[in-house]
Amino acid sequence: MSFTDWFKDIKPVMPVMVIEDINDAEPLAEALISGGVTCLEITLRTPVGLKAIEILAKKFPDAHVGVGTVSKIEEMQRAVDAGAKFAISPGITADLCEKAKSLRLPYAPGIMTPSDILLGKQFGMEFFKFYPADLAGGPKMLKALQGPFPDLKFCPTGGIHYDNAMEYLSLKNVVAVGGSWVCPVELVRNKDWQAIKTLAKKALPNI
Ligand code: 3PG
Repeated sequence: MSFTDWFKDIKPVMPVMVIEDINDAEPLAEALISGGVTCLEITLRTPVGLKAIEILAKKFPDAHVGVGTVSKIEEMQRAVDAGAKFAISPGITADLCEKAKSLRLPYAPGIMTPSDILLGKQFGMEFFKFYPADLAGGPKMLKALQGPFPDLKFCPTGGIHYDNAMEYLSLKNVVAVGGSWVCPVELVRNKDWQAIKTLAKKALPNI
């Protein structure tokens, strides 16, 4: 399944989750899901990332649990074995694109330039993470990319927050926004699940 087909059913805000304590995985996911989020990107930035994917994929079979910060094909394979239903990378490499294709895994490589996009297109990629969105030119850059790449879709992340999410989501080549602002590390450390649920509710646009 392509990422864009897969993304049709997903609410357009994707929390980028950094889980430091495995005991936080479940209550954090619970808070986000009860706030209306349907898609969870669990990053491999901490040693418990894979374990968290395994736990959450089993516990929340209806949620879309995926893996973020994938930089090696072995990580992609392990995440899929743990139950990840999609994968996201901060950048793009040929071997990651090939691996995602061979696994038939919805995959969004990270891009910042037209050349990155051309590399992805060689592998049939049609959905990209635009990262780091604010530093890479923000909404203006995404608008500029509509000219040469009218059929491609993007999920900007990096510097997205409540105040600018709608500006990105109003662009016709943006199908979702992602970021840590829905589940800030400090709130997770404080186990403030109620605050995270409130942030998730506030983050989801009325569309
Ligand atoms: C990502 O991987 O998408 C970013 O680290 C998220 O960026 P943010 O923390 O600025 O939301």
